[in-house]
Amino acid sequence: MSTEFDTTAGPLTTETGAPVSSNNQSEAAGPGGPLLVQDQVLLAKLAHFNRERIPERVVHARGAGAYGTFTATADVTAYTRAAFLSAPGKATETFLRFSTVAGNLGSADAVRDPRGFALKFYTEEGNYDLVGNNTPVFFIRDAIKFPDFIHTQKRDPYTGSQEADNVWDFWGLSPESTHQVTWLFGDRGIPASYRHMDGFGSHTYQWVNAAGEQFWVKYHFKTDQGIENLTAEDAAVLAGQDPDSHHRDLREAIERGEYPSWTVQVQIMPAADAATYRFNPFDLTKVWPNADYPRITIGKLELNRNPDNVFAEVEQSAFSPANFVPGIGPSPDKMLQGRLFAYGDAHRYRVGINADQLPVNRPHATTARNGNRDGLGYDGRHAGAKNYEPNSFGGPNETGQPLWAPVQVSGPTGEWETPRHAEDDDFVQAGDLYRLMTAGEQDRLIANLAGFIAKVTRDDIAERAIANFAKADADFGARLTEAVAKLR
Ligand code: HEM
Repeated sequence: MSTEFDTTAGPLTTETGAPVSSNNQSEAAGPGGPLLVQDQVLLAKLAHFNRERIPERVVHARGAGAYGTFTATADVTAYTRAAFLSAPGKATETFLRFSTVAGNLGSADAVRDPRGFALKFYTEEGNYDLVGNNTPVFFIRDAIKFPDFIHTQKRDPYTGSQEADNVWDFWGLSPESTHQVTWLFGDRGIPASYRHMDGFGSHTYQWVNAAGEQFWVKYHFKTDQGIENLTAEDAAVLAGQDPDSHHRDLREAIERGEYPSWTVQVQIMPAADAATYRFNPFDLTKVWPNADYPRITIGKLELNRNPDNVFAEVEQSAFSPANFVPGIGPSPDKMLQGRLFAYGDAHRYRVGINADQLPVNRPHATTARNGNRDGLGYDGRHAGAKNYEPNSFGGPNETGQPLWAPVQVSGPTGEWETPRHAEDDDFVQAGDLYRLMTAGEQDRLIANLAGFIAKVTRDDIAERAIANFAKADADFGARLTEAVAKLR
């Protein structure tokens, strides 16, 4: 990132460029006297320091980022007209921010928590953000439950700590979480580093080709470094010894020239299949088994450049699932629909109304052209250009071409439950996942879950939580009941 900071030797100055005589002694009323209001160097320095922080992200506060390159390796023009995917070999600059979810800005990296995988493609048709996780599914299927869910993961309003009671109360009462919780307490729940884990778009998204044909897609990013995880015991030690383990690992690997990469794949469902597919394809608690929709490799993502300034480029980076480009759009997934609002709103609160003008957030392969102006932090980039449309002064014009295709809807509006398809229930895929695990994986899963559930203080909350796993698989439930009983 270019900088306007003058690093050459010369006088220290104020923000407005006047030379500073002392940066070590404040101006006092006599040798032993109190300080003077006229010492504006001191006052401005303290005032700036007080304002160094912006609100941390309400979730995913702790993160590390790097720039890189996405290179398309397949012709997917039959499925999407997105220009950055239009030809094998085409390269697009990217910025990826990894994160943990529940911890605050200063929390340790080596914890059991999903990892964020937020990817910005700086395409010639605008920035495309894919704001995913290292898990293919999520705990809930409707955005309206998200603040309640996160409240149970964060600190209790009375104790000020994360409470096992709250976590398991919510999960027990939200049986749709069983699949994601089984995933999270398995071996992949604590990745060894950000480099050694997969990424997922998680939601179903729409692709639309030049002829207007629609497809539903899911994105997968397969780590080329191989999956590596930490056991609960090793993670507890590492979190204490090196709270920055993931940050350090990513930065140092890139400094060594060991650029981490991911093979990018998609599952593609013809739009007509959606109504009759055995699982609701817009339910974020479900995967599409590979046997139903095989993964197709479409590209390679490599991270090859560290940010120069963590605050400017990582803390102020702003990703939104609502940032689409022509040929890509949302699905009716109720989680995704809520997220289309939440992120832009978070950016306006956290970074300000001109967040998208910052170097890390603005388009790099095209420019933003519209009538939005002014506001806090506006940099005057439009100079005297007209700020309305249409105009007769050569200003930008609307295209008349929506980015994505219309979706058929039917029935009355209402607070509907997510429709269930033939094989949908809250437990089927959690049971499948448990049965796929090796004996060793199952042992560690049971131990990890039991260790946490045993901390719950109320029997009814613990029993309800365990009952969900029993519904996924009877053996899973029986072993967990026994393991928790031993610890309680
Ligand atoms: C309706 C459900 C959800 C809501 C309302 C929500 C809301 C938020 C908000 C407000 C932020 C902070 C954004 C910022 O301050 O810049 C955030 C960050 C994030 N969320 Fe969500 N979220 C939801 C579900 C999800 C899901 C399902 C995923 C992954 C599949 C996800 C992945 C992320 C990631 C990766 C970040 C960090 C982005 C970054 O690195 O800046 N979220 N979320």
